Amino acid sequence: MKIVAYGIRDDEKPYLDKWSEENSNVEVQSTGDLLDESTVELAKGADGVVTYQQKPYTAEVLDKLGSFGIKFLSLRNVGVDNIDADAAKRNGIQVTNVPAYSPEAIAEFTVTQLMRLLRRTPTFDKKQSQGDLRWAPDIAEELNQMTVGVFATGRIGRAAMKIYQGFGAKVIAYDVFHNPELEKQGIYVETPEELYAQSDVISLHAPATKENEHMLNDDAFSKMKDGVYILNPARGALIDTDALVRALDSGKVAGAALDVYEDEVGIFNTDFGSFDKIPDERLKGLMKRDNVLVSPHIAFYTKRAVRNMVYFAMDANKSLIETGKSDKLVEL
Ligand code: COI
Repeated sequence: MKIVAYGIRDDEKPYLDKWSEENSNVEVQSTGDLLDESTVELAKGADGVVTYQQKPYTAEVLDKLGSFGIKFLSLRNVGVDNIDADAAKRNGIQVTNVPAYSPEAIAEFTVTQLMRLLRRTPTFDKKQSQGDLRWAPDIAEELNQMTVGVFATGRIGRAAMKIYQGFGAKVIAYDVFHNPELEKQGIYVETPEELYAQSDVISLHAPATKENEHMLNDDAFSKMKDGVYILNPARGALIDTDALVRALDSGKVAGAALDVYEDEVGIFNTDFGSFDKIPDERLKGLMKRDNVLVSPHIAFYTKRAVRNMVYFAMDANKSLIETGKSDKLVEL
């Protein structure tokens, strides 16, 4: 049995080597290249493909995999929004993801960024580096006094919720699917508008879909409390960035922590050598603001998460090849 693993980064390599050692009946071929039209030939002769990338899995690539007889594609991440679903289906390609490599990693990072915003630590760090050790005007706010609105109560949303509750915040949530445990706690509001109206902090944890693209737009911001904080460790497409900039300018939004950005592909996880060379003026404008924390999609990036992404995706691919079954199959 042969699996070709694409886009393997240096930090994933030791985990992949270990997995290979433990699964000596599987021939593993790995490459640092991503899966695209120029690299897909490498998969010829394999039984399955394991990948991770944010650039699209195009119809051309999926048709090629299909023509090689490859039916199993296992992603090392959770989001499946970059797959051409029609092409996968017509080629009979089954896709698995890793839905829970570490929800806690993302939740912990999200709350870390919120605390930095509330306690103004980036501003104090900057002032201190310039020899300014004064307090004012950077007076902080306390999370225990706030209502946090969690948008989507999947694994990551629920992990974040626990931490917010640990800080003593009141937590409310919106989701089309109600988790029975949370339902019992009376945590859900019925509409996004209710969440907007009641929340001091809005914590986004929804996958990207056609329906929720730019859900945080001018209209949504206008329904929020003045001075709301926005946290997005989920998908850039959830926020209309131009509308967010307007809401920051007007003071409607007091601060934002963005681990994702709608135009991040090709920009995040790249070294441009200097700030000036980052090729996105709008992003740089956001990065320059003291009350906006931009991070390059790193909420997931922990040792445990990376290990699990490699192991769970390889296990899923192997299981599909051996048995045709996996508990990580996604419906596209
Ligand atoms: C995902 O798992 O879908 C993520 O967003 C994390 C990714 C950058 C590895």
